[in-house]
Amino acid sequence: MSRLIVVSNRVAPTQEGRPAAGGLAIGVLDALKETGGVWFGWSGEIVGEPQAPSIDTQGKVTYATVGLTRRDYDQYYRGFSNATLWPAFHYRTDLSRYDRQEYAGYLRVNATLAKQLKAMLQPDDIIWVHDYHLLPFARALRDIGVHNPIGFFLHIPFPVPEMLRTVPPHEELVKAMCSYDVLGFQTQADRQSFVDYIERGGFGTASDDGMIHAFGRVLKVGAYPIGIYPDAIAKAAQQFGDRKQVGTLREAMRGRRLIMSVDRLDYSKGLVERFQAFERLLLSAPHWHGRVSLVQVAPPTRSDVQTYQRIRQTLEGEAGRINGRFAQLDWTPIQYLNRKYERNILMALFRLSQVGYVTPLRDGMNLVAKEYVAAQDPEDPGVLVLSQFAGAAEQLPGALVVNPFDLTQMAEALERALSMPLEDRKARHADMMARLRANDLSTWRDAFLADLRNVTTAASVTR
Ligand code: G6P
Repeated sequence: MSRLIVVSNRVAPTQEGRPAAGGLAIGVLDALKETGGVWFGWSGEIVGEPQAPSIDTQGKVTYATVGLTRRDYDQYYRGFSNATLWPAFHYRTDLSRYDRQEYAGYLRVNATLAKQLKAMLQPDDIIWVHDYHLLPFARALRDIGVHNPIGFFLHIPFPVPEMLRTVPPHEELVKAMCSYDVLGFQTQADRQSFVDYIERGGFGTASDDGMIHAFGRVLKVGAYPIGIYPDAIAKAAQQFGDRKQVGTLREAMRGRRLIMSVDRLDYSKGLVERFQAFERLLLSAPHWHGRVSLVQVAPPTRSDVQTYQRIRQTLEGEAGRINGRFAQLDWTPIQYLNRKYERNILMALFRLSQVGYVTPLRDGMNLVAKEYVAAQDPEDPGVLVLSQFAGAAEQLPGALVVNPFDLTQMAEALERALSMPLEDRKARHADMMARLRANDLSTWRDAFLADLRNVTTAASVTR
């Protein structure tokens, strides 16, 4: 059996009790722990000069990590990845800015990482690259003579062509993406956006078998919605119920309803709208005063990118304003916590709550929505209020699906969720659990890797 080499910008070594660091790390780690393999990427450190990877083996997974120089970090990570691609791919062209130097840095780091990985490769390794930091990574590997199968999975949305065109080197990026053998997206809608870009731009054609012929290459382009292991989460949610932090919240909530939200502090998550819709609920339904609290866990992220500093300030203002307006001596409407919690603790907190409030303005998948459902007690489950713009909405029809730009609709959904009868809650939960089990994390991994193996067997003659 060939080795699996996973490549992503952020490598998050396993350790029970480590806080969650976004959906990619959770999904990749869980998937890799079973198959075993190598996980290559950035160590999270800034170094003086690029160096050979540090190697650390834990169980079946070998972590191979490298540092980035300050200039690489500024141009590739903070710049083009997080100040150009991230906002544009989340439909925030108003926040996206372009700098040619940063793009050059992005290409340079992809080339450097490719060189560092090449030194470790064996001829029958298969390579699975993840996320927007590494769109041109296969191109960089091919340029230095790597012929192994290479697949790519995008964890974030792929924007419609008009949006993508706001990123100046869009054509070069898409052309580079066509150097992969398989391109995977979270949803059918994302996949379609990619196909539309290729076809409308006259760069190639898609055929019915899911293949694309473009820029002189043939590749498979598919939707592979990332999943979770719902039963493992259910078990953790139950087992961690006796932890001190969970007990503290249980005590504080005695006699009150709890609405839970957990997100990285990112402007794509719709936190301002979420707070304001909760405010609207309090305005329109005074009977909830003193009887319901919103707990928002939002660990800061990418805090050296200006747009993240601004969203943080705005949210602090909104939480303070709303609390100032409604709080009573023994009741704080919004508990806003800028800190990380261990993932299992979060699952137990989800199980305590009556509503999971997950309303991003755009999101590739949003694993929190799936985790919220899995963490519930099947005999008395909470209700998921979910944005239609999260990839997860394609798969969780049992949620109360809302438009996060419609504050009144969100407030109504909260009211409905808080007062939903038990039978309705149980039926929705059972339906969603069945879907989560049928499409779990191993379905995602196995479907992607099967396509990568098939396509490359078929194409190896021509490569
Ligand atoms: C999202 C992205 C990941 C990223 C994570 C954390 O989930 O899709 O690629 O690793 O956020 O962001 P950070 O910038 O801290 O790696």
